[in-house]
Amino acid sequence: MPRRIFVTTALPYANGPFHIGHIMEYIQADIWVRFQRMQGHEVHFVGADDAHGAPIMLAAEKAGQAPEAFVAAIAAGRARYLEGFNIAFDNWHSTHSPENTWFSQDIYRKLKAAGLVYTKAIEQFYDPVKNMFLADRYIKGECPKCGARDQYGDACENCSSVYSPTELNNPYSTLSGAAPVLKRSEHHFFKLSDPQCVEFLRRWVNEPGRLQPQVANKAREWLEGEGESALGDWDISRDPPYFGIPIPDAPGKFFYVWLDAPIGYLASFRNYLEGNRYPQVVKERGYERRWTFEEFMADPDNEQVHFIGKDIIYFHTLFWPATLKFADYKVPNNVFVHGFITVSGEKMSKSRGTGIDPLRYLEIGMNPEWLRYYIAAKLNANVEDVDFNPDDFIARVNSDLIGKYVNIASRCAGFISERFNGTMSAAHAAAMPLIRRMQSSDDCWSPIGRHYNDREYGKAIREIGGFLDEINQYVDEQKPWQLAKVEVDSWKLHQVCSSALAMFWYATVLLRPILPATAERVRHFLNLTDDQMKWGQHSFFPGNHAIQPYSHLMTRVDPKQLDALFDIDKEQAKAAASTPHPATPAAETQRPAAPATISIDEFAKLDLRVAKILKAELVDGADKLLKITLDLGSGTRTVFAGIKSAYDPAGLEGRLTVVVANLAPRRMKFGLSEGMVLAASGEGSGIYLLSPDAGAVPGMRVK
Ligand code: MSP
Ligand code: ZN
Repeated sequence: MPRRIFVTTALPYANGPFHIGHIMEYIQADIWVRFQRMQGHEVHFVGADDAHGAPIMLAAEKAGQAPEAFVAAIAAGRARYLEGFNIAFDNWHSTHSPENTWFSQDIYRKLKAAGLVYTKAIEQFYDPVKNMFLADRYIKGECPKCGARDQYGDACENCSSVYSPTELNNPYSTLSGAAPVLKRSEHHFFKLSDPQCVEFLRRWVNEPGRLQPQVANKAREWLEGEGESALGDWDISRDPPYFGIPIPDAPGKFFYVWLDAPIGYLASFRNYLEGNRYPQVVKERGYERRWTFEEFMADPDNEQVHFIGKDIIYFHTLFWPATLKFADYKVPNNVFVHGFITVSGEKMSKSRGTGIDPLRYLEIGMNPEWLRYYIAAKLNANVEDVDFNPDDFIARVNSDLIGKYVNIASRCAGFISERFNGTMSAAHAAAMPLIRRMQSSDDCWSPIGRHYNDREYGKAIREIGGFLDEINQYVDEQKPWQLAKVEVDSWKLHQVCSSALAMFWYATVLLRPILPATAERVRHFLNLTDDQMKWGQHSFFPGNHAIQPYSHLMTRVDPKQLDALFDIDKEQAKAAASTPHPATPAAETQRPAAPATISIDEFAKLDLRVAKILKAELVDGADKLLKITLDLGSGTRTVFAGIKSAYDPAGLEGRLTVVVANLAPRRMKFGLSEGMVLAASGEGSGIYLLSPDAGAVPGMRVK
């Protein structure tokens, strides 16, 4: 039975760009989602910006913008990160949205009708200059115990004593510097301490399989606290000025941001189900039916799963399930909690600049799949911090990912192309025990699948690594590079390389949740269908199966790139980022590789010509391609080139470039491509079209 799962990650505050902690959370959830989809399960994966609250209101004010415009600008920057790291949300929305207003007010009304909301006047610090109530973090003063100055309202950094903000001596507002005054105001409370709430939460928290043991323990501690640490009610209202959702029956009052933030999960899901993309997704993924929001949430078999970090457990294991339950909404099935990412053992801090800027990572041309792999290798199902260590990163990527995985293909594929016309041997070693183990669900697919499902990605990678070691051992023993030297061993060479590539295929499928883009490149290279990339396929290559010539799947990390990432020496780093790596298979292997040189006669087979770009046009429906009309001297040609990201079509017209004139024409979705223009690129995003020196004319041969 396929599972049907609604998955979210925590909603990031819309007051700044993503940091590496966000990206880590999304990678963890994305791997899980991709794995479940590969099982044939129906998974809806949504996120949104958490747009409300005082800090965002103040940040917008500082930026001289209306909060709406401020959060919209942040939202506009999200796609670059998500696409850049191959994170496949189905929808990205905002808590500042009509759906969220509707849900928040609906939930509030139902909680109130259930008798779980009451009002009470409380006294709080108020900034008489800014005319607003002050959250504790905006109040500083002198420690009541030791007298240290500039201490926050909750605890002293000097003597570690704990107190409340009203106990500070000479308190001041960090917003205006003014001395705050105490002021009364009526607040709305959610009655978390109500016996029916506590009773429900006990059952919810203790349900086997719902929470990780450490998380359930924490929640129990809060639930069962007594005296000072007894479970309190929850203040869910704020006074203006506030950027938030109005409380329907309390003019001038707003919901506290944490009331409407998790409700944003539902808002994004509804926005997705009611949007234009969803019907298309249903068709593409072959889902059985199209849900309305109400239908999906009403079906008790449907799952609701939240991925979050360890700092927001309280909100997600107490307030969130309780508000849902007593407003008659579906309650979450699981809350999966991860630890924090640290960098070289240090808590990341934007102000100290020790964090990793995810955008910089991409801009200097580092491969997003390296980070996905590295983070996956270090993740388990516990609430443990994950450390990003540059040397460890280099080692894991270069020796494991490239050395053990990519190398299998780069060592074997060349022989298939050069000696066997690019065609696999149908008689690859069916009897080989290793192949049979890799094809078996008991030995391979089920245990590794269980690790993915349990979010034990480190274990999954270790088990896959075990298979990779054995495949490499097989290749080392069979020595294809020696078989290649003896004519009568040709059939054996064919069989060994075909077997190794079959196992490389299985390993790729096993790694696909972690390395989606690489898996896609392998799919093209091995000429496989989407169906052949599903979890637990057990077949061999079909008879006479042709593959594409091997082209570089992934480069090694250059340690200089990490210097660039950490900004160690800007100039040196820039140079490293722009120097192309030796783009030969030698970059991927230390072992004997397929023949890397070609003869002058082989080179002469290429008919390279100078061509003039007569016309360059956008192609309807193609996001990477430009349609280019070329003058080759002897006539015109049309080619489709994947250079749209780098060139404005108008700017290309009239330019000279170099074209492969004798490439077999290729039928594409958009028309016939009659050649290929040459451009340079590295692992990064830049593409650079070649052009001849002045004086060259269309039709000249390049040799
Ligand atoms: N807006 C709230 C969440 C509302 S959910 C309804 C929030 N936002 S946040 O931007 O501060 O954090 C978003 C997520 O990133 C949280 O799950 C948080 O735990 C996670 N991380 C923040 N820093 C992190 C690391 N250093 N490492 C890993 N995850 C971290 O909290
Ligand atoms: Zn003190």
